Amino acid sequence: MTTSANPDTSAPYHEHQPGTIVAAEHPATLRHPANVHPDHAAAPDVDIVDVTKRFGDVTAVDAMRLTVARGSFSSFLGPSGCGKTTTLRMIAGFEQPTSGEIYLAGEPVAGVPPYRRNVNTVFQHYALFPHMNVAQNVGYGLRQRRTSKADEARRVGEALELVRLTGYGRRRTWELSGGQQQRVALARALVNHPAVLLLDEPLGALDRKLRHEMQIELKQIQHEVGITFIYVTHDQEEALTMSDVIVVMRDGRIQQQGSPEALYRHPVNRFVAGFIGSSNFVAGRVAGSADDDGRIAVSAPDGVTVTGRLADGERPAPGAEVTVAIRPEHVRVAAGGASDVPGWTALAGRVTSDTYLGDQHEYRVAVPGLGELVARAQAQGGDGAGRAFHTGEDVVVGWHDTAALVLTS
Ligand SMILES: Nc1ncnc2c1ncn2[C@@H]1O[C@H](COP(=O)(O)OP(=O)(O)OP(=O)(O)O)[C@@H](O)[C@H]1O
Ligand SMILES: [Mg+2]
Repeated sequence: MTTSANPDTSAPYHEHQPGTIVAAEHPATLRHPANVHPDHAAAPDVDIVDVTKRFGDVTAVDAMRLTVARGSFSSFLGPSGCGKTTTLRMIAGFEQPTSGEIYLAGEPVAGVPPYRRNVNTVFQHYALFPHMNVAQNVGYGLRQRRTSKADEARRVGEALELVRLTGYGRRRTWELSGGQQQRVALARALVNHPAVLLLDEPLGALDRKLRHEMQIELKQIQHEVGITFIYVTHDQEEALTMSDVIVVMRDGRIQQQGSPEALYRHPVNRFVAGFIGSSNFVAGRVAGSADDDGRIAVSAPDGVTVTGRLADGERPAPGAEVTVAIRPEHVRVAAGGASDVPGWTALAGRVTSDTYLGDQHEYRVAVPGLGELVARAQAQGGDGAGRAFHTGEDVVVGWHDTAALVLTS
């Protein structure tokens, strides 16, 4: 077995070849939810308990705790090197944790080899067998298990239908487009009905448009089969499109996990706020104490004071360093000279760029002491409310206090 984090694409046979794939014993049809042992019906599909993985002095995964609910679509999202692939490889059994325990369907799996786990993996660099046609590729794992020919034909047919490749069984794999090849890899991983499907940047090699189509299809397929999907990506848009739960990772540590909306609306720190969507960040110090709603004043450079809202339970001391995060869609631009409105932060600035983005206008506004703030507004027909501001214009930028999040880390 190789120890590289990413499979060697030059080798035709490596560990994620179908020969190492074994899945559920039950000949259920693909469209039924994964088979569940009655004793463990309530157990989550994957439970990662205090798992740390070290390679020499590199800590790839650091004290991870994660429970993946049955039938959910979860994504690991984070920058390169944050430990996403290592986590998947431990779930699949290609790596062993340095410490901690992984449970699959309630059973600890330390020492259980990959082919004995009810888990399949689809990698970015899927390797199809070049000497086999599509149907033979998809049915490989079934033949290893001595499934009858009739059963194999039926299940391969179902799997190809699922990935919208009905009628492609006799094609050679090299005749297929990148997207079609990836569908074959997916069908091959699904044909044995694993309880959990691990997908490591499976769409990374596809162009943008095809990737987007496949994202939507993957989500539909996951819905149809009811199998737990754990999906690795460093593309936030991809994670937002598909996931029930996003797990944001950095340096081997989980920063936050939750629904796409929860992470977008309530990021726990600056890293998550910047990684999911985009934000304006204003660094400053706590200038007073919070009111009952968690609203607090923050003094920024140049004597500017901004107001924002603290996350539940956060009560930083006066003088503490904080970052105020404001989403561009919450930043309003108004003509200069607008009067103070209670509950709003309003700052004088000058437009440094105005960009028409089709359905939106994006303005960059320089505010003394804060630098440039980005504002995005829906473009509207006519003038009045839809009025566009122009580069060089003096304006007021502002946001409602509750739209600005005061982050302590
Ligand atoms: N077999 C190995 N030997 C030594 N170090 C490793 C090994 N596998 C992974 N690492 C290190 O562990 C850390 C996490 O790697 P991992 O492949 O899990 O990151 P990743 O989040 O999947 O990144 P990417 O988005 O680039 O695929 C990195 O610092 C990497 O260099
Ligand atoms: Mg990786």
